[in-house]
Amino acid sequence: MSEKLDIGIIIGSTREARFGHKAAQWLQAVASRRGDMRVDLIDLKNFDLPLFNEKASNLWLPSEDPRAVAWQKRIAEFDGYLVVTAEYNRSMTGALKNAFDQAYNEWNHKPIGFMGYGGLGAARAIEHARLVAIELQMVPVRTAVHLSGGDFMAAMKGQRSMHEVEAHLLPAAADMLDQVAWWGEASRAARDGRAKLAANAATAVAAA
Ligand SMILES: Cc1cc2nc3c(=O)[nH]c(=O)nc-3n(C[C@H](O)[C@H](O)[C@H](O)COP(=O)(O)O)c2cc1C
Repeated sequence: MSEKLDIGIIIGSTREARFGHKAAQWLQAVASRRGDMRVDLIDLKNFDLPLFNEKASNLWLPSEDPRAVAWQKRIAEFDGYLVVTAEYNRSMTGALKNAFDQAYNEWNHKPIGFMGYGGLGAARAIEHARLVAIELQMVPVRTAVHLSGGDFMAAMKGQRSMHEVEAHLLPAAADMLDQVAWWGEASRAARDGRAKLAANAATAVAAA
């Protein structure tokens, strides 16, 4: 078996009273049981990202704010991402959109899967986030995990644990993780191949 994929789980909400970390911790436990991925939590609260204030996306110009650069370095470490998002007014949280905007190159050519929670399982937020992922040259996978309705209300209010509401979530989580793993392997091989080609070309130029 090839080396494990490095997958980052991004907690998309940052408010003090958030629910997001509970869903993210559940997803981390489920993904870690597979054995084909190392799964790290990435908490936006730890990055203190400013609202985007660069001269351009780092596609065009290196970012100047050290907090943006630190974020880009962390994002660059992963082969793929699982984003856990709330739905705020039918879209992703502002913190999550800002975090997407604060990097570009580091997201490219990698898969991204989503878990959402809310009345409708954050389905609308996830659809928006998938469009953002396309612009970032990512591979948004088909299946998402949606914690919705009464299960969401019970888990959010602390009346039931994530374990108690997971029956409806586990099949979707398995599908989503399979898709992220498939694209993660494929895109890592492609990125490695491209890096080798570039290194060979540099050696040839140096030797000429
Ligand atoms: C500003 C705001 C807007 C919200 N809009 C929606 C919404 O459009 N759809 C929805 O299902 N829930 C909505 N909610 C309820 C959230 O699903 C619920 O508060 C959830 O716990 C938020 O995630 P968080 O606790 O991780 O911040 C909204 C909550 C907030 C604070």
